[in-house]
Amino acid sequence: MKRTAILLCALGGWCALVGEDASHKYTRAEMEKYLLEAKILSVRPLSVGVTNSSKAKLSDGTLNHDAHVQTVDIFKSSFATSRGNELNFKDTYKFNIAAYRLDKIMDLGMIPPSVERKVEGKNSALTWWVDDTAMTEEERVKQNVQPPNPAGWNQQMYVVRVFDQLIFNTDRNLGNLVIDKKWNAWMIDHTRAFRVTEKLPTLTSIPQCERKFLAAMRKLDEATLNEELKPYVSKSEIKSMLARRDMIVKYFDEQIAAKGEAAVLYDLPPR
Ligand SMILES: Nc1ncnc2c1ncn2[C@@H]1O[C@H](COP(=O)(O)OP(=O)(O)O)[C@@H](O)[C@H]1O
Ligand SMILES: [Mg+2]
Repeated sequence: MKRTAILLCALGGWCALVGEDASHKYTRAEMEKYLLEAKILSVRPLSVGVTNSSKAKLSDGTLNHDAHVQTVDIFKSSFATSRGNELNFKDTYKFNIAAYRLDKIMDLGMIPPSVERKVEGKNSALTWWVDDTAMTEEERVKQNVQPPNPAGWNQQMYVVRVFDQLIFNTDRNLGNLVIDKKWNAWMIDHTRAFRVTEKLPTLTSIPQCERKFLAAMRKLDEATLNEELKPYVSKSEIKSMLARRDMIVKYFDEQIAAKGEAAVLYDLPPR
């Protein structure tokens, strides 16, 4: 159905369509192009989060949509975190773009598109604001909202937990998971990931792995990653990630050998 009026998303989101099919689902390529080319109408600081990131209003004349603006780009040879002192600490917008690209390579579809663009003169990761957001995981837990399909929700969380081990994300706090109205989980904020370490936080608490995700992890290769994640992730960061990938794949292969495929692998429905 063609809509000629401006439709404002519920929950006060900007997300307005002018003369467009409201049911149209944008492709990754369309969203990337939009983020790169749409006019930035305004940029306002967000009141949540720790890095003082911002929310921008964009328009290409047809679609109005919000985007998240992250400019943090810090390197410290040593940095005190809540988990102790971290050597070669990085907190960078570049990893938001890299995590999205990795999601794209593996066709996970759980990270909103993110591109590099200068916003108000600063290099930034400009990320598609998740459509139809309902709440963050933090809000869900605080308000004790139960997912309508707890098993399906857990299966999404297993993907998040395996992905965080793959990229060695040190900051999956509950504000970094956004839930949309269809109960899709979206991973955001990967500025503290891609650590150069081949040690793997324990996998034993993750009972299952999504079938296509495991297959996609198996297929990751150094040459493609070096090409696709450049210049946001270094070659040594990629080598470490592939070493962790090997450990993850070995772990689930052993689980399959011991318990059978049906007990370990599952399929998430397409979104
Ligand atoms: N792409 C996005 N879509 C929807 N909400 C987002 C998006 N990016 C950020 N947010 C919201 O903004 C908050 C802060 O953004 P985040 O990237 O986590 O910054 P910080 O590094 O300050 O934690 C998030 O907890 C989330 O509520
Ligand atoms: Mg955050």
